[in-house]
Amino acid sequence: MKVAKRTFDAVIVGAGGAGLRAALQLSEAGMKTAVLTKVFPTRSHTVAAQGGVAASLGNSTEDNWHWHMYDTVKGSDWLGDQDAIEFMVKKANEVVVELEHYGMPFDRTDNGKIYQRPFGGHSQNYGQTPVSRSCAAADRTGHAMLHALYQRNVRANTQFFVEWMAMDLIRNADGDVLGVTAMEMETGEVSIFHAKATIFATGGAGRIYYSSTNAFINTGDGVGMAARAGIPLEDMEFWQFHPTGVAGAGVLITEGVRGEGGILRNASGERFMERYAPNLKDLASRDVVSRAMTTEINEGRGCGSAKDHVLLDITHLSPETINKRLPGIREISIQFAGVDPIKALIPVVPTCHYQMGGIPTNYKGQVVVPKDGNSNVPIVGFYAAGECACASVHGANRLGTNSLLDLLVFGKAAGETVVSDFQSGQLKLQPLPEDAADVSLARIARLETQTGGEDVHEVRLEMQRVMQKHAGVFRFADVMKEGVTKIMEVAERAKRTQIKDKSKVWNTARTEALELDNLIEVAKATMVSAEARKESRGAHVRDDAIDCAETPNGRDDVNWLKHTLWYSQGNRLDYKPVNLQPMSADVEPIALAKRTY
Ligand code: FUM
Repeated sequence: MKVAKRTFDAVIVGAGGAGLRAALQLSEAGMKTAVLTKVFPTRSHTVAAQGGVAASLGNSTEDNWHWHMYDTVKGSDWLGDQDAIEFMVKKANEVVVELEHYGMPFDRTDNGKIYQRPFGGHSQNYGQTPVSRSCAAADRTGHAMLHALYQRNVRANTQFFVEWMAMDLIRNADGDVLGVTAMEMETGEVSIFHAKATIFATGGAGRIYYSSTNAFINTGDGVGMAARAGIPLEDMEFWQFHPTGVAGAGVLITEGVRGEGGILRNASGERFMERYAPNLKDLASRDVVSRAMTTEINEGRGCGSAKDHVLLDITHLSPETINKRLPGIREISIQFAGVDPIKALIPVVPTCHYQMGGIPTNYKGQVVVPKDGNSNVPIVGFYAAGECACASVHGANRLGTNSLLDLLVFGKAAGETVVSDFQSGQLKLQPLPEDAADVSLARIARLETQTGGEDVHEVRLEMQRVMQKHAGVFRFADVMKEGVTKIMEVAERAKRTQIKDKSKVWNTARTEALELDNLIEVAKATMVSAEARKESRGAHVRDDAIDCAETPNGRDDVNWLKHTLWYSQGNRLDYKPVNLQPMSADVEPIALAKRTY
């Protein structure tokens, strides 16, 4: 079947912070750039980011990038690559000031500088005291950021394809990437986007879990496409559970609430974080706080009639502070929890929030794979940035506000790499294979013509239940093993999905079915990688890998200080080394140590 073809210098999939930042770099350099997005750009999930973007500007408290680097490596439980981390923290001030110049409405200090607040795991002087490092626009930082970047892209003539869903990566016989196929969601028409460079910025896949702070659009589209196209997924066992999702609703309550002085309390009103993290308390790293909350609940000190949540207390803050610094949180609490935080405590539970793993990239945004004995060989024409990518700066646990930083730094870096490869003539428009669209057309045909198949919603719900139960905050060897069997059964069902009621929500149904194909790749990668990693590290904590002299906090650096690579084809695992060496020769590596807060 013949399909329409559009040709660009570059195609970017995703219009959140990373996609928009990369697009800006390309369009301003005069490249003909297409951005495909399932939703209007300013509705991308970056819009939900609340508390801020990390940069060691030192506007409110003394700070520097060395401390930021230390906190990030320690937060990652030493699984982060130290070259990429050094790159990110050194670029932080530049990308934040750039945004300020694009017109981003940051809050201000009394002397007119960008307002900064404390966040979990960020410290002064190598873990000594909390630092104010998160640059914030009230509690709507992502919203402000997306608008600033979108407007700048409009000025630069970036071409947006809104309500288009990318379907499959197009590769040639050498494995080079030549673009994507994509479906216009309104019509169901499939087109080829043929390009010299393809950048994935599709965000995370938090919707593999039942309870998630993620938008419904966060279905791991880029990650799923990459996996189906033979590219391994890195460190997918590491998922962040944000300590403060509204109990029962999952909506995010920013860590900035604790940055402004909020306190977590159990059923007897105790500030229990003092027992788990005597130094940073409520501002310990997220994995630590989420586990502490889960322990309180599991040991019967939870709140409410079901004792299934804890409470977040800001009643000691002045109404002026709450209304000025946390207006969105007050609104969310009233709407989703039925409490006004000026007067009452907010019910919260750990909720799936962020995917630390993803498509393997280097610090330049190039997608890299093992080849000929080298674990990081760039794929020609393929780049990724933001949550869908694994650079790897977050390792086993990300620090809050390093996500907005990641998407700015690596969105820009991917853009710069593409521009430089384009201007040097390295990137060429390569001929498309005859069958470039066949896989995508077959997927759509399957949905339309199959009879007696599976219902998309039922299969997706089952996947979410399996993931919630078998790969949660605390992990158990036998539960994970059972989870692998179950998720493989769900994956078999997902192959047989069909659109049952073609008369009603036709295009929505088709999109959801295609999204499930992506989610299921992420779910398989997560479950299989988690079951295989026989240690506790960061957000991956197993009952059979516990704290002792040889394995601090259950972490086994002798056998498991390595990145996981999961291949969809053959459901195969491989591993590659962690880069413990910073980028600059004069920067000391952050030495392995037991993680305490
Ligand atoms: O808590 C928050 O505002 C979330 C920030 C983040 O995930 O970086």
